[in-house]
Amino acid sequence: MEQQKQIILTGDRPTGRLHLGHYVGSLKRRVELQNSGEFDEINILIADDQALTDNADNPAKIRDNIINVVLDYLSVGLDPEKTTICVQSALPALHALTFYYMNLVTTARLARNPTVKSEIQMRGFADEGLPVGFFAYPVSQAADITAFNANVVPVGEDQLPMIEQTREIVEKFNRLYGKTLVLPKAIIPENETQRRLPGVDGKAKMSKSLGNCIYLSDTAKTVKKQVNGKMFTDPTHLRIEDPGHTEGNVVFTYLDAFCTDDHFAEYLPDYKNLDEMKEHYRRGGLGDGTCKKFLINVLEETLSPIRESRAKWEKDIASVYDILEAGTKKARETTNETLARVQKAMRIDYFGDRSIIKEWEKLLKEANK
Ligand code: TRP
Repeated sequence: MEQQKQIILTGDRPTGRLHLGHYVGSLKRRVELQNSGEFDEINILIADDQALTDNADNPAKIRDNIINVVLDYLSVGLDPEKTTICVQSALPALHALTFYYMNLVTTARLARNPTVKSEIQMRGFADEGLPVGFFAYPVSQAADITAFNANVVPVGEDQLPMIEQTREIVEKFNRLYGKTLVLPKAIIPENETQRRLPGVDGKAKMSKSLGNCIYLSDTAKTVKKQVNGKMFTDPTHLRIEDPGHTEGNVVFTYLDAFCTDDHFAEYLPDYKNLDEMKEHYRRGGLGDGTCKKFLINVLEETLSPIRESRAKWEKDIASVYDILEAGTKKARETTNETLARVQKAMRIDYFGDRSIIKEWEKLLKEANK
């Protein structure tokens, strides 16, 4: 292959609207990468087939949420002129690649994937029985990444085992069949709280069923309600004068992830920065109400432009459809090319030309000698 281009591939399962955890954990970074001008190609895959691996009984949920995910992408500033947005199920090359890669991975190796392991527990598959498709989804993710020739995969921390597994598949493929696939690397957010934003109740993950999310599409009123009504602070901080804890205090965790010094100048000029504010909270004399009010202002700075943009796109769903269709068409070309290269490397490209006729004739002649 010619010199490696800088190519990004990342994706999401379309199982619901995207929330603040997605935003700080990946969407914000994607927009920065998109606008950095450092990449030749940026591809974002809506992984509907992967979503089906644990939603086979409810394909309508996946179908309905595709539009939500595209709207979330467009409203955070992903620009279809610069970023290709596409749908996995409409890219048949991904299925074929998955089938070949499955031969390069053992079930023992899949069973060791820590993310899959915990997901199996969470979804109750340990008791109910484990669908083969779900068990093997890391292999299909390797197909996603390699089909786009991606060398950079921006993801959340929980996805690191998938990239590791992809790298193993790439190395094995290239060793067996000759250098064909690009070896990818993951990049994850630098800021630790951005990597793992807890739910408003302090639980490790935002999840729809726990009702502890703040969605990018939530109204200002809902955001306020989630913060004022549900967000955990410090249970030992009973009166304003009491000394308080900032560690494990969800309001401060969110401030760690979202606030900048400029926010203080604008909304809470009593402090220069978050360190000063935390110091006061620990000392005593700073009330939770003040902290929450500030946090709401900070969150709204991120959320209100996203909300406005979403409202505009929602009025023009036909254009959203066109963007997705055009992106998918482009992705189909890219992924088909990779599949052709893979089949050629494996020498299973029987019908590219008729040269195999000669090979077969020669084989028969030798056998019959
Ligand atoms: N597994 C990812 C998630 O749950 C989604 C995904 C599918 C993905 N294919 C991908 C991420 C390829 C990065 C690259 O968030």
